[in-house]
Amino acid sequence: MTNQGWVLETRPVEKLDATCLAWREVPLPAVGAGSVRVKTLMLSLDPTNRIWAGPTESYLPPVPLGTVMRGIAVGVVEESQYAGLQVGDVVQGMMGWKEHAVLPGVALTLLPKDVTPEQWFGVFGHIGLTAYFGLLEVGQAKAGETLVVSAAAGAVGSLVGQIGKILGMRVVGIAGGPEKCKWIVEELGFDAAIDYKNEEVGKRLRELCPDGIDVDFEKVGGEIMDACLARLGLRGRVVLCGMISQYNATSIPEGPKNLANVLMQRGGIEGFIVLDYLGRAGEAFGKLGEWLATGKLQFATDVVVGLENAPTALDRLFIGANRGKLMVKVADNG
Ligand SMILES: NC(=O)c1ccc[n+]([C@@H]2O[C@H](COP(=O)([O-])OP(=O)(O)OC[C@H]3O[C@@H](n4cnc5c(N)ncnc54)[C@H](OP(=O)(O)O)[C@@H]3O)[C@@H](O)[C@H]2O)c1
Repeated sequence: MTNQGWVLETRPVEKLDATCLAWREVPLPAVGAGSVRVKTLMLSLDPTNRIWAGPTESYLPPVPLGTVMRGIAVGVVEESQYAGLQVGDVVQGMMGWKEHAVLPGVALTLLPKDVTPEQWFGVFGHIGLTAYFGLLEVGQAKAGETLVVSAAAGAVGSLVGQIGKILGMRVVGIAGGPEKCKWIVEELGFDAAIDYKNEEVGKRLRELCPDGIDVDFEKVGGEIMDACLARLGLRGRVVLCGMISQYNATSIPEGPKNLANVLMQRGGIEGFIVLDYLGRAGEAFGKLGEWLATGKLQFATDVVVGLENAPTALDRLFIGANRGKLMVKVADNG
C-alpha cells in the first residue's frame, strides 16, 4: 500500500505553503494491538495549522521538522486491532496530512452513522464546540445582549452569530467584502454586518452598538480587536478565540491601543482553547444537532478536492476566499 503525504521540511517565515512542505511517500506502520489503520476521507484545514508549523510552543508542541504535517481528519477504519472500532467505522482523529494513518483506537472519535464528513466539520467537531462553548461558557452570553463576532462568515464565526440569534442576542458580524456581509445578514439572520475591507470598523461599531458591546467573540486580533475594545460596554467580555491577522506576521505585532476601556468598563478578556471542552462534547453536539434538525442553524462548506492541493488551499483562510468551513476531500468512502 502506498501512502503519500505532506512533510514539513522548513518552518514558514510568513505563509505555510508548498515551499515549506514536501509531497512524498511516508511510512505506514503495521497495525499493533490497540491500534487501527484509517484511510483519510476529509482533512480539516484550520488557521491553527500555521501556528503548529511555526517554531513556538503553543497549546501543542510545534510539528517536528521532517514529519508529516499535523491535521484533524475524518477517515474510515480499514483494519482494527482495537475492540472499540470495526472495519468500516468512520472516525475523527489527528491523522495528519496523509492518505492513511495508524493510530491508537482510544485517540479516535466515532462519528454518528448519519453524519457526513462535511456536516461533522461544518457543525460538529472542533468548530461546533468552539462556537458553542466559546459563546456560552467563556462569553456567558445572554438574551438581549449585543454580540460582535469577527471573521463572521467563516467556520466558527458563522455558527457563533447564529447561536447568538438563537439565544436572543443582537448580533453584529464583521467580515471581508459585500457578498459575505450580505450572506450573514440575509441568509444567516445576523442583525447587521460590517465590511471591514470597505468600511471604517470603529465608526460602524459606534453606530451599530450605541450601548456598547457585551460580548466580542474575537477571532482576528489587531485593528479589528482594537476597535471592539474601544466599544466594549459595561462588564463586556472578550472571548479571545483567535488572532488570525497575526498568524503570518514576520515581526512582533503592535499591542492593543484601547485596553484602558476594558478597565473603565470593568470588562474581561479570556483566552480559550477548544481542547479544554472535549470532555463535554456530547452536551454541545446534542444542542447543535437539535438546532440543525429544526432549521435554526445552517452551515456552509468550502471543499477543495485532492490532498495534493492542501498547501494551496490553506491560503484560502488567510486571504478570506473561504465561506464557512474549509476542508480537503482526500478520498471517497469505498
Ligand atoms: N481557540 C480555539 O480553540 C479555536 C478553535 C477554532 C478556531 N479558532 C480561531 O478562530 C478563528 C477562525 O477560525 P476558523 O477555522 O473559523 O476559520 P475561518 O473563519 O473559516 O477562516 C478564516 C477567516 O478569517 C478572516 N481573515 C483572515 N485574515 C484576516 C485579517 N487579516 N483580517 C480580518 N479577517 C481575516 C477571513 O475572512 P474575511 O473574508 O472576512 O476576511 C477568513 O475567511 C481563527 O483565528 C482560529 O485560530 C480558535
